[in-house]
Amino acid sequence: MILEGEAIAPSNIAIVKYWGKRNSELNLPLNSSISISLDGIYAKTKVVFDSNFNEDKIIINGKELGIKEKQDYATKVLNIFRNIYGKKIYALVNSTTNFPESSGLASSAAGIAALVYAANSALNLNLTQKDLSIIARIGSGSACRSTVGGFAFWEKGVKDSGEDSFCYQIFPENYWEDLVDIIAIISTQKKKISSRLGMQTSVNSSTLMKCRLEFIERTIPEVINSIKEKNEKKFFELTMRHSNSMHAVILDSWPSFFYLNDKDLEIMRWIQDYGKAAYTFDAGQNAHIITLQQYADVVLDFLKSINVEKIIVSKVGHGPIVLHD
Ligand code: PMV
Repeated sequence: MILEGEAIAPSNIAIVKYWGKRNSELNLPLNSSISISLDGIYAKTKVVFDSNFNEDKIIINGKELGIKEKQDYATKVLNIFRNIYGKKIYALVNSTTNFPESSGLASSAAGIAALVYAANSALNLNLTQKDLSIIARIGSGSACRSTVGGFAFWEKGVKDSGEDSFCYQIFPENYWEDLVDIIAIISTQKKKISSRLGMQTSVNSSTLMKCRLEFIERTIPEVINSIKEKNEKKFFELTMRHSNSMHAVILDSWPSFFYLNDKDLEIMRWIQDYGKAAYTFDAGQNAHIITLQQYADVVLDFLKSINVEKIIVSKVGHGPIVLHD
């Protein structure tokens, strides 16, 4: 028996960032988070379940994953699908991204979100977006936010089971049409400290973590309101403060690690002076500069002047799409 499904899902950039878990097996976060799904930056994943296979085989951008990576990435997710389906049927997963992996662009998020949609389609399970976001979360926390388009809200939840820690859309992709994300690829090198290890180190050691969690609780309604009112000044301010807050916690963690480099700091200073855009950085060196379409040229000229490796311009994008041939 052969069952096939294929889907694409977007990468996302966090505005309110997820940094710290209360349960690392289920990826239950310490705080709720908000992100934007990115248009044209996606993973495409095909899954083939075949009763003749005797193990899973995962290929990402043409490279087969080893046993350890396989467990981290996809086996957890495939096991959940096998449990729901009620049969031990293994899969061949083939995933490609149209952007560099492990570079601060959420490649695993997009890949896992595409995988859950593809597997749901292959096994004909008709699971809801909420269910799929929970499965994606177990694969890799921020992947749950790639199960919707537009502006995504990941509810941290309070239950130990994780059933109330899921993601939903708060505004659709066409809500704020002139918002753009200008991504400056500073380096395509794999980051040295994974977000998993980084978060664990921060939870164990950062004295600022408690303040950050209070700041997030207090400002989430303001972030949502700034989007609702399309209040760019407030949205830019909060975006930068939430990025700063995560990287301050990271700087405060021990053993020491830090993701930002000199060029990133130069970008931060320039954006703060410019005043009509916001920077935000995930666990990597690449800068996401959120601005409005009418200011994009000024930002692009600045980025060209400091010689970044590559620039990608994206808008708020749609959610996953299941492909049928
Ligand atoms: O989902 P993970 O384990 O790759 O963690 C992602 C963490 C950040 O990208 C730094 C922040 C976020 O909310 O996406």
